[in-house]
This record gives sequence, C-alpha cells and structure tokens, in this order.
Amino acid sequence: MRRPAGRPPPGCRLVIPTDRQIRALHERFAPNHAAFELVHTHCEIVCALAEELYTGGDLELVRAGCLLHDIGVYRLNETDSYLRHGVLGHELLRELGLPEQLSRFCSHHTGVGITRDDVITLGLPLPPGDYLAETTEEELVMYADKFHSKTSPPVFVTADSYAVSLSRFGAGKVARFAELRDRYGEPNLDAAAKRFGHAVV
Ligand SMILES: [Fe+2]
Repeated sequence: MRRPAGRPPPGCRLVIPTDRQIRALHERFAPNHAAFELVHTHCEIVCALAEELYTGGDLELVRAGCLLHDIGVYRLNETDSYLRHGVLGHELLRELGLPEQLSRFCSHHTGVGITRDDVITLGLPLPPGDYLAETTEEELVMYADKFHSKTSPPVFVTADSYAVSLSRFGAGKVARFAELRDRYGEPNLDAAAKRFGHAVV
C-alpha cells in the first residue's frame, strides 16, 4: 500500500526542527537582513495565525511548516517568477536532507492549490504536477498564509479581500477558498495587526 504523501515510513518518527533551528536556516539563506526580516516575520505571523485557526492534526508539524514555507523566496533570482518560490524552497530543504513531509510545505502552499491542469492551461513556470495541500497540516499552512502578504509594507489580508483577488483564477478556486473558510473560520486580524504593527487591507 502506498503511504500518504510525505509521510515517514511506519515506525520512523519525524524529527521536526525547533523554531530556533528554522530561524538559523532563514539567517543562513537570506541574501540580506531586509529579506530575512520580511520573510521570517511573515513566516512567524503565518505561524501565529495557524495556531489560532488550528482544529486538529500535528500542531508541531503545522508550526514548522509555517516557519519554513517561504524559505524558497531567498532562492529566487531576478528573472524568476515569484510562483517558483515554492518549488525552490522544496529543493532547498531536500538538499539539506530535511524529510519530504517538511519540504512539501514549500511547494504545496501556493494560492489554494495548483493542479497539473492549471500548470498546463495557464502556462505556469512550474514542472507539470499537482501542488495541492494533501494533509491536514499542509491545508492549514496554505490557508493561514492567505491572511498576510509580504507587500511593501507588509499587510494583513481579510478573507473577503483574498476571495476577490482569487476570482480571476476562476470559480473553482473561489469555491475552494470558501470551503476552507467554512472549515477553519477566520483569524482575528485586528488583534494580529495590533500585535505585529501591519495594517489590514
Ligand atoms: Fe507565505
């Protein structure tokens, strides 16, 4: 029988890096301090939002997934589409020897999931394949990520604003987001805005 995506073999316990170890990885791969601040703070915010939205699954894994999910941003070069940060992060963590279960958070958190069909029909700059959240933990990391954006300045994004921005990708994506919203609810963005000092849009 095939194991579910990213699961370690039976009897083999997944070793999850600590917050400090993950922070050290960000420091190691960020090209400069501003990039580190932007990306690592975003990851910490997504982690706080995911903890608030958490309904089940392995919380330690969710936290590590949030803290690692955007590490591939540091590997983007000037000509790369931003969309590639997920696969670049996955490659980076794989090269470091991190387990698939952790590396997958990078390539499986974009939007509300990207299908092979999306890659082909939209001509996305990704190897053809499905980049969908398959586990409870992947789903929560992907969903929590939608409420904060690394724009300049970084902002919190309401569920309504995100739903509007998704509409250009079709009704299926909007419906998928509505399903996630039903399942997890919405974080208290006013409280998060106060805590982290970023506006809500
Ligand atoms: Fe993110």
